[in-house]
Amino acid sequence: MQPVCFLTVLSLFVTSTECKLPGLKTRITDKALDYATNVALDKLTKQVTGQPIPDQHGSTGDVKFDITGIKVNEFIKPSSRVSMIQNVGLSWSTSGTQLALHGDFHYKYKKGIIKISDSGSFDLNSRDIAFQLKIEIGVDNSGRPTMKSVGCSCNVGSADIKFHGGTAWIYNLFSGMLEGKLKDMIAGGNGVLCKQINNLVNVNGMESLKKLPVTVQIAKQFLLDYTLLAKPAFSSTFMETYHKGEVYWSANPREAPFPVPPLLKSNDTSRMMYLWMSDFLFNSMSYNAYKYDKLQYNVTNKDLPSGVLNTTCPKTTCIGKFIKVIGEKFPNTTVMLYMKSTTMPNMTVRNGSTMVETSGDILFFAQQSDGKYTYFLTLSASMTTTISLMIQNGKIYAKVPDLPIQVKVKDSKIGALSAQGLNFIIKGVVSIFVQPKLNELGSKGFPLPIIDSVHFVNTELTLGKDTLLIATDLKYGG
Ligand SMILES: *[C@@H]1O[C@H](CO)[C@@H](O)[C@H](O)[C@H]1NC(C)=O
Ligand SMILES: *[C@@H]1O[C@H](CO)[C@@H](O)[C@H](O)[C@H]1NC(C)=O
Ligand SMILES: *[C@@H]1O[C@H](CO)[C@@H](O)[C@H](O)[C@H]1NC(C)=O
Ligand SMILES: *[C@@H]1O[C@H](CO)[C@@H](O)[C@H](O)[C@H]1NC(C)=O
Ligand SMILES: *[C@@H]1O[C@H](CO)[C@@H](O)[C@H](O)[C@H]1NC(C)=O
Ligand SMILES: *[C@@H]1O[C@H](CO)[C@@H](O)[C@H](O)[C@H]1NC(C)=O
Repeated sequence: MQPVCFLTVLSLFVTSTECKLPGLKTRITDKALDYATNVALDKLTKQVTGQPIPDQHGSTGDVKFDITGIKVNEFIKPSSRVSMIQNVGLSWSTSGTQLALHGDFHYKYKKGIIKISDSGSFDLNSRDIAFQLKIEIGVDNSGRPTMKSVGCSCNVGSADIKFHGGTAWIYNLFSGMLEGKLKDMIAGGNGVLCKQINNLVNVNGMESLKKLPVTVQIAKQFLLDYTLLAKPAFSSTFMETYHKGEVYWSANPREAPFPVPPLLKSNDTSRMMYLWMSDFLFNSMSYNAYKYDKLQYNVTNKDLPSGVLNTTCPKTTCIGKFIKVIGEKFPNTTVMLYMKSTTMPNMTVRNGSTMVETSGDILFFAQQSDGKYTYFLTLSASMTTTISLMIQNGKIYAKVPDLPIQVKVKDSKIGALSAQGLNFIIKGVVSIFVQPKLNELGSKGFPLPIIDSVHFVNTELTLGKDTLLIATDLKYGG
């Protein structure tokens, strides 16, 4: 994969002219597109049958006509195939649509003193409607995809029309000519079908793409940017999209000061969709969480069971008993631990594992009788842990199975301390408070960019160098 360059102003917030690697990439194979168009056609087939079509009123020359009560009696789903046009976009062909319409007609002919009017009903049967549509897919300067119809052709194999009532037998004589006219009207150079389809792609399609969100809010204060870095790429059997994949601080979106590593290479195309996520995506979030002081917490007795942070405890166990000097210097009170990161937690994905490294300070305060706090100790802590990841219902869930922590005294106002007592207290705080808190966060899940009604099935997660690669089939859930 080549680095892709920013087009102009990459996102709404960040202007850059550098060439950057994507933090998020998707590969969508022709299997996914065939599946999606088939789902769409199934829906259409169900909707179209029995569907009334708006009345048509018009005139040609001296004839005024009304066609009313038009209804689709039968719609047979075509076979459909999506293929890629290399370097351009997609081609969608369908063939074998069958359509039967019923309707009523009424007309008036008036010329001089001659007045004729008549009414009746008609049945229109059309077989073998086929069309091919070519769509060019690009990117606009806000990083959203664009689409444009670059070719539409349509063919109606046959259109049979039968009139009933009125002087139907006369019209039936001309039905051959009418059929030709109808076919032309539907499928000809300026036919209704291609006109509608082009309109659907160039106007309706483009309008909805212009409104496509390219950022998503995470945990209120963060913004995940998945604007396109370049035009999607099309090979013979799949398309790929390259996205920014960076998390910003919403109130002040800035580029993270470290590079995006290259994503893992894979040439697999056996599933419908592939999603590459760089560890950069998580690290850009972690960087901002650290920079904007989100990674700090004050732990007090309310967070822990049974007065562990009490300094005096004749009958139970507490910090004042483990570290005697705390009990002696600050009797009959409680301790508050102010925990804060001193480096950003750094996630590194390697072959088969995900590691998170971080370090922080733990400041100890004793509560005074007036409620204020007296500082007396700082420990520095460092942690390296592996996390396990799981994908379910379109989200990535994380779990910290174990949180080994090393602590050292950084500053003490109460003299030398027993390392044993300190480690015991800190390990207790970590296993009772920090680890559950992290797991609670991990169990909320990180949202993947997919549509609500689409589910992942047959999903596989691969952890490779700096990359989480999700390979999955998709299922539409109604
Ligand atoms: C994928 O790449 C591997 C090695 O990089 C190669 O052996 C294999 O034939 C490739 N498969 C396809 C389907 O291109
Ligand atoms: C925690 O306590 C310290 C010291 O009193 C204070 O400076 C800090 O703002 C508090 N932090 C939070 C998140 O409550
Ligand atoms: C801890 O101390 C507080 C007051 O400082 C007291 O109310 C509480 O009962 C103590 N808890 C235990 C378990 O000793
Ligand atoms: C701590 O509280 C106990 C019981 O209330 C009291 O007997 C003792 O004198 C207090 N110690 C100090 C140093 O205030
Ligand atoms: C994260 O850790 C990796 C591997 O140890 C290192 O190469 C990288 O520079 C670190 N990133 C940051 C932002 O500290
Ligand atoms: C990844 O790990 C697996 C087993 O853990 C090993 O078989 C494989 O060779 C490793 N691949 C690389 C690229 O290190």
